[in-house]
Amino acid sequence: MDRIRIVGGNKLNGTIPISGAKNAALPLMIAALLTDETLILDNVPRLADVAQLQRILGNHGVDIMSAGKRPGDHEYQGQTLHISAANIIDTTAPYELVSKMRASFWVIAPLVARMHEARVSLPGGCAIGTRPVDLLNMALEKLGAELSIDGGYVVVKAPGGLKGAEIDFPKVTVSGTHVAVMAATLAKGTTVITNAACEPEIVDVADCLNKMGAKISGAGTTRIVIEGVTKLHGARHTVLPDRIETGTYAMAVAMTGGDVLLAGARPELLQSALDVLVQAGATVTPNNEGIRIARNGAGIKSVDVATAPFPGFPTDLQAQLMALMTMAKGSSHITETIFENRFMHVQELARFGARIHLDGETATVDGIAKLRGAPVMATDLRASVSLVIAALAAEGETMVNRIYHLDRGFERLEEKLSACGAQIERISG
Ligand code: EPZ
Repeated sequence: MDRIRIVGGNKLNGTIPISGAKNAALPLMIAALLTDETLILDNVPRLADVAQLQRILGNHGVDIMSAGKRPGDHEYQGQTLHISAANIIDTTAPYELVSKMRASFWVIAPLVARMHEARVSLPGGCAIGTRPVDLLNMALEKLGAELSIDGGYVVVKAPGGLKGAEIDFPKVTVSGTHVAVMAATLAKGTTVITNAACEPEIVDVADCLNKMGAKISGAGTTRIVIEGVTKLHGARHTVLPDRIETGTYAMAVAMTGGDVLLAGARPELLQSALDVLVQAGATVTPNNEGIRIARNGAGIKSVDVATAPFPGFPTDLQAQLMALMTMAKGSSHITETIFENRFMHVQELARFGARIHLDGETATVDGIAKLRGAPVMATDLRASVSLVIAALAAEGETMVNRIYHLDRGFERLEEKLSACGAQIERISG
């Protein structure tokens, strides 16, 4: 199994190109199931999760072609996928595939909307919490689908097609909102979703669906209205830049010091995180190429942060912020409100000498002047990258094990960081 070796202590200076967003690319690829015409997606990141979803869609009979590079394409430019679900040969998503990636459960929405039936394995728990799908199922039932559980599978049927409905989410859910929006595009009549998630990835998917002929308004607000149509068609769409990758590298620069341009990043996608970085002592300068982030001279200041749905501070940056706070002056409090068990990085950060105390959903981090490198590993993607951030500033060598988590969500992490002066390498085998 590959590992990453980091020798800490170098400042980061240079340019890091930001890739397309994983959490937009995945639902966009799933949305291709809604039409028998080809959906072309540009700027799709080359990630293990994208490859895994290609296999899952392939199982339904979806044909995916990855176009080669064109003259003038940037080395880091994402891939272009031509996705054609002209013939759906199987409406079952099996346990072996769904259990590897939770987002693949979302295929249930386009399958029932277009094929009027689906059989999708329940995804099971995961490292960051129980993560139920009750609200996704509730949304489909409101739209008139009949649901039952059989052998660990959700069996969903809508013989006469889905019907528009009012869906009020008792809790903000990104997955619930994606599923409700996708399913409602082909329902008869109007659907109104209230307490909808406002994440930029919801807006990106709605924009793409509208290009495909859907009639969605209000995406990005808590009230989304969808007028159902009988058919969607092909379209071409560019995946928006990854705000979590942006925030991660911004935290890394704040941690090590230095000056880096995050090329292609869009500040409005992560304003709350940028505000926190400024409070922590970083200089953040948006410009027309992206976001410049620097920390020169000044030390890291402690901040108190609670995660929240967009536009609040994202749970997907909580672990990275905690790594940064391990070297802040004073104590910081970090509260996780989205997932009940998203603190696996705490024990691993302690291996660098970090002082973190957990009390329920709040971690108190007492900053120290120096971290020391250590062998570490983590059980989820964002926790793993928080260890990379700590290692970049730690004295001596760190070996990050189980890096397949990093490959799920960070494209060419070691190349991007070493181009800015980090001493980081992948060790194969
Ligand atoms: C998405 O997960 C992201 N994944 C997550 O990123 C992200 O952390 C999360 O949104 C929150 O922003 C993708 O987009 C692929 P939710 P999702 O539905 O949609 C509870 C990463 O590292 N809930 O908004 O699954 C749930 O348990 C990943 O890239 C129910 O109770 O998140 C959680 O506590 C990790 N019932 C809360 O709602 C349900 O039916 C928010 O979950 C659905 C969710």
